[in-house]
Amino acid sequence: KYEKLWLALSLVLILAFIATVTYGAVGAGVSMVADDEEPVNPDTLGDHPQFGEPGVEQVGENEYEAYVIAEQFEFTPDPIVVPEHSTVTFYVTSPDVIHGFGVVGTNANTMVIPGEVAKITVETDEPREFGIVCNEYCGAAHHAMEGKLVVV
Ligand code: CUA
Repeated sequence: KYEKLWLALSLVLILAFIATVTYGAVGAGVSMVADDEEPVNPDTLGDHPQFGEPGVEQVGENEYEAYVIAEQFEFTPDPIVVPEHSTVTFYVTSPDVIHGFGVVGTNANTMVIPGEVAKITVETDEPREFGIVCNEYCGAAHHAMEGKLVVV
C-alpha cells in the first residue's frame, strides 16, 4: 500500500535532481536553462545570422546575447567579453563533434551537440576573468581546448 507513496517520493527526488543539475550560479548567479532552441545545420553555420559572426550583442538595457562556436579545439570568439552587472545568455553550438562549454569555478556548464544550440544564462557581477573549458572528450587536443570569459 506504500507503493504509490514511494513512487511519488522518487518522482520528487528525480525532479529535485533535474532542478539541481539545470540550475546553477557564477558570482551573483548563473542560471542554466535547458531550453529547446531551434536546431542549426552544422554544415552551414557560416550562413547563420548569428553563428556566422559569433560574438556578443546587446538586446536590452543590461541584457546581452553571446553566440559561441565550440569546435576542435577552440571557442570562438575568444575571449568572450561581456559587461559587468548584466544578464548574458550564451548560445553555443558545434560544427564538428560533441564538446563542452564550462565556466571554470562556477557550475555553468553544458554539453554542446552538433546541430543543437545549448543555452545558458549568466548574471555577471564585478569585472574579472573566467576560464572556459571543454569538458567532453572531443579528440587529441581536447585537454587544450580552452577559452576566456572576460567581464569588464
Ligand atoms: Cu572540445 Cu573536448
